[in-house]
Amino acid sequence: MLSKIQALLAAATALWAFAGHAAPAEDEPIYRDVAIIGGGASGSYAAVRLREDYNMSVIVIEKGDRLGGHVNTWVDQATGRGFEAGVQNYIDLPGAKEFFARIGIPIANSTRAPNEQVYVDFTTGQRLAGFVPPQPADRTEALRRYLAFAEQYVPIMEPGWWNFPKDGADIPPELLLPFRDIVDKYNLSAAVPQIFATTGFGMHDLMGSLALWVIRSFNVDMVRVLLGINAGFVPASRRNQDLYDAILARLGKEAVVLSSTVATFAKAPRKSRMKILGVANSATGEITHRFKVKAVLFTAAPAPANIAPFATFLSILPDLGPFAAFKFSATHVGVVSHRALPLKTTLANTRSESQPARYPLSPPAHPFNARFENYADSSVYRVMAVGDENFTDPDRARAVVETSFEKMMAAGTIGTENNTTSTQDSRLEFKYWQPHGLVNAYIDAEDLKKGALGKIHDFQAYYDFYWTGAAWSVHLTTGLWQFTDTVLERLVGDLKKIWG
Ligand SMILES: *[C@@H]1O[C@H](CO)[C@@H](O)[C@H](O)[C@H]1NC(C)=O
Ligand SMILES: *[C@@H]1O[C@H](CO)[C@@H](O)[C@H](O)[C@H]1NC(C)=O
Ligand SMILES: *[C@@H]1O[C@H](CO)[C@@H](O)[C@H](O)[C@H]1NC(C)=O
Ligand SMILES: *[C@@H]1O[C@H](CO)[C@@H](O)[C@H](O)[C@H]1NC(C)=O
Ligand SMILES: *[C@@H]1O[C@H](CO)[C@@H](O)[C@H](O)[C@H]1NC(C)=O
Ligand SMILES: *[C@@H]1O[C@H](CO)[C@@H](O)[C@H](O)[C@H]1NC(C)=O
Repeated sequence: MLSKIQALLAAATALWAFAGHAAPAEDEPIYRDVAIIGGGASGSYAAVRLREDYNMSVIVIEKGDRLGGHVNTWVDQATGRGFEAGVQNYIDLPGAKEFFARIGIPIANSTRAPNEQVYVDFTTGQRLAGFVPPQPADRTEALRRYLAFAEQYVPIMEPGWWNFPKDGADIPPELLLPFRDIVDKYNLSAAVPQIFATTGFGMHDLMGSLALWVIRSFNVDMVRVLLGINAGFVPASRRNQDLYDAILARLGKEAVVLSSTVATFAKAPRKSRMKILGVANSATGEITHRFKVKAVLFTAAPAPANIAPFATFLSILPDLGPFAAFKFSATHVGVVSHRALPLKTTLANTRSESQPARYPLSPPAHPFNARFENYADSSVYRVMAVGDENFTDPDRARAVVETSFEKMMAAGTIGTENNTTSTQDSRLEFKYWQPHGLVNAYIDAEDLKKGALGKIHDFQAYYDFYWTGAAWSVHLTTGLWQFTDTVLERLVGDLKKIWG
């Protein structure tokens, strides 16, 4: 834990030193009721609700050049068709369709023709001829058993961690077992390929992860969609980014600064309870705006680099708790093409230990490329590179995808039919390649037993900071919105009490 605290403080010192050299705008700071850190699913949603339902002014500070966070839509400029490399669809939870309607985004059912699954060990490029995937009926039975197992923990896990045991000793012991033990205990192996394919957006060690984190990531709402109990939807345009572009237009310049991060943070002078934020351009570090706010809603991943500007505030806490305990997976997503890749097929990365047994499937060791998944009626493929929290270099991640492709070419698993092994066209074409950021925030069993997660909501309201985002909730846009509602209620109630 100590090294994380040091990293936080070092990063903060570096930022402040940097900010000291810049020429901060000396004008009177611009007043907003609430500063929202991060313009992903939670931050964008919160901004709309705070303004329109609670009559508050906001400023969203987003480090990227768009809103939408984990949405990664690549648009083929030739046809206008969108291809989703990140968030795939939206699960129909209460309030979700109404929110799309409010923003004026027509929706459609998300239907997808299933691909043929081909299991390949990407470390050798060899197809696993001896691996027999589960029969659909067995998979369904196993998913039902998983659902029954996971559902009993929903009351302490959703929405957010409000009802999670405060004392680490009260955490149900099953939640602290590695997922592989749960798979054995409940005979879930027929569901593992599906779980891996669905949570491929991030768990770098699915089987070694604690059951708690698998239930959080592969949450009951996703299982219900897979079992046909609930359904997902998408924008009728088939471009998930459209929702966030519409939110950006609706909020306007006065409520959003893009390509920006918080560089400085301080209490306002005198006895005021206001906070002053210096906002800098992400690329140049130059301070471009100063805002004076009553409260901060933090929605980004609570990783050291994101928390650094607030580190002095955090360091006065008696226990850094979840901020120091959180670890992450780091992911990168892309759209690629090459004529050696088979159509209507998903090449799924699987460890060769998975054969010759029927299943279980052994997910690959990280860092890995999860798969090459052909998008319906197209010749492009979805890829995703996954590693631990230090797997943040986009070029290194891209090389992982390229290597997986080259191994399959060399092994003759792909490309032989059309003679594509000739060197001039052996390179994979990247249509789109984006960091997908830190996902699947988790805390080790040791820190959980010390109560790191149970104490997490003690940080709500502390120094007028409020917390939402995927680390505090499920990995599901519409579930995050539900959780964010609970935080907004608290925030708005508190501000009313303090400021009238
Ligand atoms: C909304 O807030 C503004 C500024 O604080 C105030 O002037 C206005 O009366 C409020 N409107 C409603 C409907 O509460
Ligand atoms: C989506 O599917 C549901 C249930 O099958 C149906 O009632 C609804 O009309 C469909 N919506 C659209 C936009 O196609
Ligand atoms: C485990 O599940 C599979 C399919 O899901 C089933 O065929 C098998 O009989 C189950 N085994 C036990 C011991 O329940
Ligand atoms: C070979 O090329 C044809 C025509 O482009 C394509 O339909 C087929 O999928 C390719 N086969 C492989 C293995 O790439
Ligand atoms: C990532 O790197 C940091 C700094 O070297 C190290 O302290 C941390 O343990 C690493 N994380 C993992 C999961 O290995
Ligand atoms: C495949 O490549 C070989 C060697 O370059 C060549 O002789 C052959 O004609 C090619 N076949 C096709 C179908 O392109």
